[in-house]
Amino acid sequence: MTDQTITSVSRESRVFKPSAEFKAQANLGSEATYKRLYAESVNSPAKFWGRQATELLTWRKPFSKVLDWKAPHAKWFTGGTLNVAENCLDRHLGTARENKAAIIFEGEPGDITTLTYKQLHREVCKFANVLDSLDVGKGDRVAIYMPMVPEAAIAMLACARVGAIHTVIFGGFSSEAIKDRVNDCQAKLVITADGSWRRGKVVELKASVDRALEGTPSVQHVIVLKRTATEVSMTAPRDRWWHDVMTGAKAEHKAKAFGSEHPLFILYTSGSTGKPKGVLHTSGGYLLGTTITTKYIFDLKENDIYWCTADVGWITGHSYVVYGPLSCGATVMMYEGAPNHPAPDRFWDIIDRHGVTIFYTAPTAIRAFMRWGDDYVKKYSLKSLRLLGSVGEPINPEAWMWYHTLIGKKRCPIVDTWWQTETGAIMVSPLPGVTPTKPGSCTRPFFGVVPKILDDNGKEVPKGSGGRLFLMQPWPSMLRTLWGDDSRYKKQYWSEIKGVYFAGDGARFDKDGYLWVVGRIDDVLNVSGHRIGTAEVESALVSHPAVAEAAVVGRPDEIKGQGLVCFVTLKSDQKPTEELKQALRGHVAKEIGAIARPDEVRFAAGLPKTRSGKIMRRILKEIAAGGAIKGDTTTLEDFNVVASLQSEG
Ligand code: PRX
Repeated sequence: MTDQTITSVSRESRVFKPSAEFKAQANLGSEATYKRLYAESVNSPAKFWGRQATELLTWRKPFSKVLDWKAPHAKWFTGGTLNVAENCLDRHLGTARENKAAIIFEGEPGDITTLTYKQLHREVCKFANVLDSLDVGKGDRVAIYMPMVPEAAIAMLACARVGAIHTVIFGGFSSEAIKDRVNDCQAKLVITADGSWRRGKVVELKASVDRALEGTPSVQHVIVLKRTATEVSMTAPRDRWWHDVMTGAKAEHKAKAFGSEHPLFILYTSGSTGKPKGVLHTSGGYLLGTTITTKYIFDLKENDIYWCTADVGWITGHSYVVYGPLSCGATVMMYEGAPNHPAPDRFWDIIDRHGVTIFYTAPTAIRAFMRWGDDYVKKYSLKSLRLLGSVGEPINPEAWMWYHTLIGKKRCPIVDTWWQTETGAIMVSPLPGVTPTKPGSCTRPFFGVVPKILDDNGKEVPKGSGGRLFLMQPWPSMLRTLWGDDSRYKKQYWSEIKGVYFAGDGARFDKDGYLWVVGRIDDVLNVSGHRIGTAEVESALVSHPAVAEAAVVGRPDEIKGQGLVCFVTLKSDQKPTEELKQALRGHVAKEIGAIARPDEVRFAAGLPKTRSGKIMRRILKEIAAGGAIKGDTTTLEDFNVVASLQSEG
């Protein structure tokens, strides 16, 4: 750990027991079963996971070995072959699910489309034929930069069907971010749309792709979905309309089987350097992890209408909008736009109109709803809901209680799920119907997960003390490497303690063995549930001609969890004006995307540094939060710098 100690201030003591009613119908409804299966999963992982993989997935060829673990590299279900798209679609055909809704889509303007499993299968087969015709196949990389529309899922599943590796880029990222990601993985094809709807306005996706593609020599084709009917420029023969390529595409597609370890997707996420990490997930293990967690943690039933509000551009959208629920044969609700358009009751309106039963969202959204006011909620009955979930950041007990009371009407269990892009699937969460919950705690590990809190020397800390969170055993949905950078993979996750996974989070266990995750302890911020590396924002800032040096820190933010504060020193010929502050905020948004737009830019004559030249972020954090400077400042080179920074604020 760097220059901070992990203290957990939460002293929440309320406990909520599962209701007898929920317990009686739960997919896994007894503490004894949880204990027995958990013990088996960690003591005999090969036996446990081998059985689950056989029962929950459809293999073309059975696997011969459950786990081949040469730390830090894991191979799961070797010898086995499968097709992930077949598991999400084909295996439901010819069953009662065939004509069940797979996706119920609502666009922001109010348009509604429902695709049954049969119809979704048809669209995916057609698009897989399109990919075949463009010579996009096994191992090729495909970038997807799309709105939250069914075609995003169709594109992902078609890639999986032909063995291409997709990398979904969140629609809020800038052209610079697209360019970096496309170049890093050398994508051959980009799938995008003319635009997407957001708060009644069009976000011009194709225009961003066009700017990115000025510097991406690997891209041969671009497929463009017409969503907003925005005018776009189409460069022939590179760019093709989705509706044109789909016209005449055959609705039958014979899927090939791929090895269990065949790469399924790369998802870029922020780390502690300026370059995003391409987290690589593979097929069998990832699909098993997402399938089993969907079944037990969301207690999925045949007649549920399941809504995870995450965008497919994030891991939550991959695992719990597309792969997990479709593999389980669920009906997935999908919504394109903003939660407050046309009014802050949009989500509640969707829940009542569509009869949503399971609702999974982020604390930052919950806090925004709290601020918008209870009246927007009280207009709706929300009586269809039976389970609530939370993900992305620690949920503060106040938001938990609001969610429990106003949305769940004290009737719905809340699953606070801790996991990461790297873990692929939920790692720590209550099991609804089994685990008593405490507001703000993600409670206990899921099957196969062995979390430990260790100190700087790798020693387990006593219960109640804070430390760093590690996972002691490999799990099926774990990341396999970082795309093109295995040494960073080893260093980042497996070198703190050799052979053990370092999550980058600070946490503690309470006296009941419940896990409380405090937040990131590396230089990664969690802004509205999204990971943003301070180094990425810093490198965006110093790419502006006026900036000499920059340091970025987080400060507590009531809605977003953390806000971004940038300390900037200017080149000597520059004047510290208000216009320049705004220009720098805009510059970061342009370089990375609107989600990284700084909340505040502060000009400084110098930055607080140690004698060896390292920026002392702890001090900047304290200044950003408006507090007094606590702790050791003896390594500080020049205290005058701090004094002047404080007086500026
Ligand atoms: O700090 C933890 C926080 O989000 C980080 C992972 O971010 P990302 O890879 O973007 O994935 C987010 C969605 C899975 C973690 O290292 N985090 C996520 N869920 C929780 C959480 N912190 C506390 N409680 C959670 N339930």
